[in-house]
Amino acid sequence: MKPRTAIPEGLDQKERELFLTLDPKHLPRHIAIIMDGNGRWARGRHLPRIAGHRSGVESVRSTCETAARIGIPNLTLYAFSAENWKRRPKTEVGFLMKLLVTYLKQEVATLNKNNIRLEYIGRKHELPEDVQATMAWAREATARNTGMTLTLALNYGARSELADAFSAIVESAAKNGGLEHLRRKGIDEDAISRHLYTAHLPDPDLVIRTSGEMRLSNFLLWQLAYSEIYVTDVLWPDFRGKHLLEAIADFQKRERRFGGLGKT
Ligand code: IPE
Ligand code: IPE
Ligand code: MG
Repeated sequence: MKPRTAIPEGLDQKERELFLTLDPKHLPRHIAIIMDGNGRWARGRHLPRIAGHRSGVESVRSTCETAARIGIPNLTLYAFSAENWKRRPKTEVGFLMKLLVTYLKQEVATLNKNNIRLEYIGRKHELPEDVQATMAWAREATARNTGMTLTLALNYGARSELADAFSAIVESAAKNGGLEHLRRKGIDEDAISRHLYTAHLPDPDLVIRTSGEMRLSNFLLWQLAYSEIYVTDVLWPDFRGKHLLEAIADFQKRERRFGGLGKT
C-alpha cells in the first residue's frame, strides 16, 4: 500500500485535496512566477490600475505561504521589470514603489512566521534610496530564516543581468591579473552562471505566467533554458495557493528531456 503522505499544516481544504494528487518527492526546487494581469483585473472592475497592484499583494502572500508550507525551497517573483520602470507613467511607478515599501514593512512578520528568507535580483542601486533602505532592512530581518528563499525581481531585466555578468567576469579577471588567461580560455557557461544575480539559486524547474500572455518579457532568459513553462489565464490578483498547486500538478505530468531521448 502506498504510504499516506503527511499533509502540511495550514493548507485549506482545496489545497489539501490538490496536495494529495502531488508526488511530494518530486516538487520543483525552484519556481519562478511572472505576476501579470493586475491592470486588466482592475479594468474589469472599473477600478484604476493601481487597485490591481494593491490587490496583488494578497496573491503574493497566499502563494508564498502555500509554497513554503509544502516545502518549495526557492520561489522567485517578477515584481517589477527594468522596462516597467522606463515605460510606465511616473504616477504608476511611484505607486508601485510605495506599495513595495508597504508590502515589505507589513509582510516581514508573515515571512518570519513561515521561516522565509528574502532576497532580491535586479539593479537595486537605481531604485529610490528610501526603497533601497527598506529592502535592506527586510532582507536583514529575515536573513536568519532557514526555510524557503523568496527572491523578488525588482528593476530586473535579463539582458542587463547578462551584461552585468559579462562585465563582472572581465572586471574580476582584470583585478587578478588574469585578462590574458581569460582571453585564451574564453568565457564558459559556469562562469556566466556564477556571475548572474541568481548565482545562489538553482535554475527554475517551473516558470508560471499569469494572465494568459505567452512571453517571457525579459525574465531570467539564461536560467529558463530548460524550465517547464505553465501559462494560466488567471489574472495575478485572483491567483492563490491552489493555483500554484495546480501548476505543480501539471509540471509533474511533464517529461523533461534536456535534449535527450526520454522514455519513449
Ligand atoms: C503586472 O501587472 C504587474 C507589473 C508589471 C508591475 P500589469 O500592470 O502588467 O497588468 P496588465 O498586464 O496591464 O493587465
Ligand atoms: C512582465 O509583465 C513584468 C512583470 C510581471 C513584473 P509586463 O506586463 O511588464 O510585460 P509585457 O509588457 O506585457 O511584456
Ligand atoms: Mg502586464
